Amino acid sequence: MSEVPAAIQEELNTLRETINDHNYRYYTLDDPSIPDAEYDRLMRRLREIEAEFPQTITPDSPTQRVGAAPADGFETVSHRLPMLSLDNAFEEQDLLDFDRRVRERLKEAEDARIDYCCEPKLDGIAISLLYRDGYLVRGVTRGDGSAGEDITANVKTVKNIPLKLRGEGYPAELEVRGEIYLPKAAFDAINKDAAAKGEKTFVNPRNAAAGSLRQLDPRITAKRALEMCCYSVGYFEGELPGTQHDILTQLQQWGLKINSQMKLASGAQECLDYYHHIMNIRDQLPYEIDGVVFKVNRIDLQQELGFVSRAPRWAIAYKFPAHEEMTELLAVDFQVGRTGVMTPVARLNPVFVGGATVSNATLHNMDEIRRLGVHVGDTVIIRRAGDVIPQVVSVVLDRRPEGAVPVDFPKHCPFCGSDVLQLEGEAAARCSGENCSAQLKEAIKHFASRKAMDIDGLGDRLVELLVEKELIDSPASLYSLKAPDVAGLERMGDKSAQNLINAIEVSKQTTFARFIYALGIREVGEATAKVLAQHFPTLDLLKQATEEDLVETPDIGPISAGHIRSFFQQEHNLETIGALLNQGVSWPEVVVRSTETLPLSGQTAVVTGTLADYSRDEAKDLLTRLGAKVSGSVSAKTSFVVAGEKAGSKLTKAQDLDVKVLDEDAFKQLLEEHQAYLGGDA
Ligand code: IVH
Repeated sequence: MSEVPAAIQEELNTLRETINDHNYRYYTLDDPSIPDAEYDRLMRRLREIEAEFPQTITPDSPTQRVGAAPADGFETVSHRLPMLSLDNAFEEQDLLDFDRRVRERLKEAEDARIDYCCEPKLDGIAISLLYRDGYLVRGVTRGDGSAGEDITANVKTVKNIPLKLRGEGYPAELEVRGEIYLPKAAFDAINKDAAAKGEKTFVNPRNAAAGSLRQLDPRITAKRALEMCCYSVGYFEGELPGTQHDILTQLQQWGLKINSQMKLASGAQECLDYYHHIMNIRDQLPYEIDGVVFKVNRIDLQQELGFVSRAPRWAIAYKFPAHEEMTELLAVDFQVGRTGVMTPVARLNPVFVGGATVSNATLHNMDEIRRLGVHVGDTVIIRRAGDVIPQVVSVVLDRRPEGAVPVDFPKHCPFCGSDVLQLEGEAAARCSGENCSAQLKEAIKHFASRKAMDIDGLGDRLVELLVEKELIDSPASLYSLKAPDVAGLERMGDKSAQNLINAIEVSKQTTFARFIYALGIREVGEATAKVLAQHFPTLDLLKQATEEDLVETPDIGPISAGHIRSFFQQEHNLETIGALLNQGVSWPEVVVRSTETLPLSGQTAVVTGTLADYSRDEAKDLLTRLGAKVSGSVSAKTSFVVAGEKAGSKLTKAQDLDVKVLDEDAFKQLLEEHQAYLGGDA
């Protein structure tokens, strides 16, 4: 055995101490201060050192136990069989190595394909449920793996946990294990509520689930929409099927929830395919997952493989790239939007998170900065999940360096120097300038964007250059640009300059709805613009519409109505409109359709997955034009779901609820049937 260098011994001590602190914060306080990915790295480093110098392993090293000891307040219960943890794979090779070790231990041939049961790895709290003669008698947390807390009263408030098993044939004594979690939507609702009351928000759904479950008052737990999903059995007296897959299917028949994404894979390659499939649908699942778990399917083989200290040799968790990472906050800049709203933006030391390198994250507004208590120089946790823009979740306070500077909201616009105003009851602060170059740039970017005037080739950077070089000073001035004006600009040759001028020219022929959207009226998005065009089919009618007229229109509330009215009362907006019309911007007369007589009126549709011939926006637009209401989520009220490739949880939900599902061919057929209604563009 090699001698332990002093520096290594020191690193070991620090690692163990740090990890123990984090365990305490995570398991006992439900308030972790670092992202899981960082915790995983610390544990990996500790294991690495202990593997090289096994003589350093102490019985109390964090590697020798699974979680933290149970806290006070609940009774401690020993687990009949320990609740173990899983080894992690972080890359493809780790999984291939796992599969090779399994085959070698089972003395299988090199090309043998082991059957694995594949399941998403839910990010919640591990729980053991005990059923006696079919009745739920106890619910216990994992705790440190050998003993946990008795939270029976709280577990009984979880709606999808049966208090009595259904059917028959269940073992006289049956311990079921699984994860209790908070679906994403319920998490958002809880946090919104907490923020509105000025209370502390939860950093992620797992944390919120832990906090909810460990309430000493079960009435509080009952208010949180927790769910449980089962993934294995512990101790039992009686008979159970011989494979993981069949056991879970059996549990489902007894009324317990199992994961609808569970699948069998034969060999490592199919496991990898499963991993990629689940990663693709990850963001569409209604709950958080942090990877997938592969388990040798046959129970007899599992028994043959056995365990090493804390984890089974027959299972592995293949983790997804983390949604949360930590990095340094280098500075906070303030961006000014097209309506003057100032948004603080965190400039970060670039960090790889959620599958991309992130160097900026939004801080939303001053209230958010105060809530986070963030200082420049802080180490912050960044979250990037799905299409959502990166967010600053929290500050790692114990890493705040000396001399970190609190963030101040500027009193003057950093671009035009005008006063910054914060209106009563509004979180946003605004630049009050009427000639602010930042506002102008954003207004023109919006005007030119795809869903507005759709000027091909006029990207954000080009708009900025044109404004900075004073070649344009309003949306209308775009139409006076000449090719030689732009030919000299960054990455612009004669040809691309001429193409741009042509694209600007082409954009003059538009639709009324696009024109309204392009004006950038506050609270008027694409959908509202379409509604306005239908109800006030000429510019004169729209200009004259009173707030009362506007609120009578479907989907327009008093706030939007106020913004629309005030937009058309401001002289400079009317001038802009006049200038655009003078430049030749025009649209065909709006064909007013009575929504009651459209073929799909009264129906609600959902579009999910990838369609080969339509973007999701196009599909939604076509359905709207046929009179359907397009919704983002499936419910029993949904009339039908259009499902393309890789449709995820929405499709599953539709199937669960017996909602009609159209594949792309059926969708095309529907469009063809109603072709007559799809002639023009509103
Ligand atoms: S199996 C001996 N299956 O991950 C096998 N665990 O890191 C024990 N988890 O404590 C676990 N989803 O809380 C298993 N489909 C799944 C899981 C799962 C989430 C959690 C569980 C466990 C932890 C291990």
